[in-house]
Amino acid sequence: MRLRVDVVLGLQWGDEGKGKIVDTLAGEYPIVARFQGGPNAGHTLYYQGQKVVLHQIPSGIFHPNVLCLIGDGVVLDPEILQREIQGLQKLGLSPTKRILIGENAHLILPVHRWVEEVSAEGEKIGTTRRGIGPAYADRYARRGLPVASIQRKNFPELVQALTAYHAARFPAHTPPPLDQTFWEGVDLLRELPRVKIAEWLGNYSRVLAEGSQGTMLDIFAGTYPYVTSSHTTVAGVLSGLSIPPQAIGEVYGVTKAYATRVGEGPFPTEITGELAQWIQTRGGERGSTTGRLRRCGWLDLVALRYAIRLNGVTRLALTKADVLCGLPEIKVRTGGTDTAPTYATLPGWEQLSDPTFEAFIQFIEAETGVSVWGISTGPEREAWMERPLPTP
Ligand code: IMP
Ligand code: MG
Repeated sequence: MRLRVDVVLGLQWGDEGKGKIVDTLAGEYPIVARFQGGPNAGHTLYYQGQKVVLHQIPSGIFHPNVLCLIGDGVVLDPEILQREIQGLQKLGLSPTKRILIGENAHLILPVHRWVEEVSAEGEKIGTTRRGIGPAYADRYARRGLPVASIQRKNFPELVQALTAYHAARFPAHTPPPLDQTFWEGVDLLRELPRVKIAEWLGNYSRVLAEGSQGTMLDIFAGTYPYVTSSHTTVAGVLSGLSIPPQAIGEVYGVTKAYATRVGEGPFPTEITGELAQWIQTRGGERGSTTGRLRRCGWLDLVALRYAIRLNGVTRLALTKADVLCGLPEIKVRTGGTDTAPTYATLPGWEQLSDPTFEAFIQFIEAETGVSVWGISTGPEREAWMERPLPTP
C-alpha cells in the first residue's frame, strides 16, 4: 500500500483560512496531521454555528471518523492542549478518542513562554508569545524535551533542570512555578496514544497534512528574521511526518484575495488609512491567537508565485474575496521590487457571481500558472464553491 499525503499550505503570512479548507477536505481522509508549529496557530472554524479556534488540534477533529495526528515537527504545550480538549468536550465531542501524538514532537514548558516574556527577542519580531521560538531553540540545541520523555521516571527532574537552565540566563527575573495545570496537562498527554510516526503511517494509504502559519513565515524561506521557528513549507511535511517526497500528492495552496500580516516585518503591498481599516473590519482581521489587529494590503503576486514554486502547489484555494465586495477597484501587485512594487488595477465586484470576479480569478491563474480550484465565499462551513479543473 503506497502512502499518499495531500497537503494544505498557507502561501502568505498565515491566516489564509487553511483551517476551513482542511475541514472541507478532511472527510475524505482517515488522518489529518499537523506537521509543524504549535499554539501560535489559530485555525478558526465554524461548527454547528459556533466559532471554534483550534491552536494545536488538527482541523479534522469535527469529522467523527478522522484521526488527528500531532506530528513530530510540532512543539506542543500540554496546558493549551488540555484547555482545547476541554473546549471541544463542551461542544459534545470526544476528541481524546481521535488524537494521537508523534513521540518526537517537543514539549513547550511554562519556562519557554516565560523566556519570551523576559527577553526582548520576541518583541522585536512581534511573536505570539506562546514560547514557540524558545522551544524550537532548545530542540535544536539538543536540550529540549521530546514528548516521549514524559514516560521517563525522572521526567519531573528533566523539566526542573531545563527550567533552571533558563532561569539562570535571566537572574533578574523569577520563572513561573510548575503548577498543577502543567502537571495535569502532562497527565492528559500520558493518556493519549503516542506513535512512532514513520511506522504507524505505514498502516494508512492517505493523509491530509495541515500547515500552520504561511510560506512567508518559514524559518528558511520567509522574511528572516521576521519569521516563525519552523518549516511552514512542503519541506516541513517531509521532516515533520517522516515521509518520503514521493508520498506527496496534491499540494493545496491557500491565499486570501488580499494580504495580511500580524507582527513585524516587511510587507511590500501594505496599505494604511481608511481603506486598510475597512478591510480590517469587514474581514475580521484580528489575530485569533493574540487578538492583535492584522496589517492589511493588496494581493502580492510576486510573493505568491514564489510560494507556489517553492511548494510545488498544484491547486489554489482563494479565500475572503467576499470581504472585498463593493470596492470599485482592486489592486494586485504584479512586479517591481519590494520597496517599489508595481500594480495592476482590476475592476471590483459587488458579489462573487459578477463577471469581474471571474476576471480576477482568471488573472490570478494566468499570472501564476495554477488553477483556482476552490473559493471560500464566507466564514461558515457551507460558504464554499469548487471550480471545475481544466482537463489535462
Ligand atoms: P512566533 O511563531 O510566535 O514565534 O511568531 C513569529 C512571527 O510569526 C510573528 O510575526 C507572528 O505574528 C507570526 N505568526 C506566528 N504564528 C502565526 C499564525 O498562526 N498566523 C499569523 N502569523 C503568525
Ligand atoms: Mg490564524
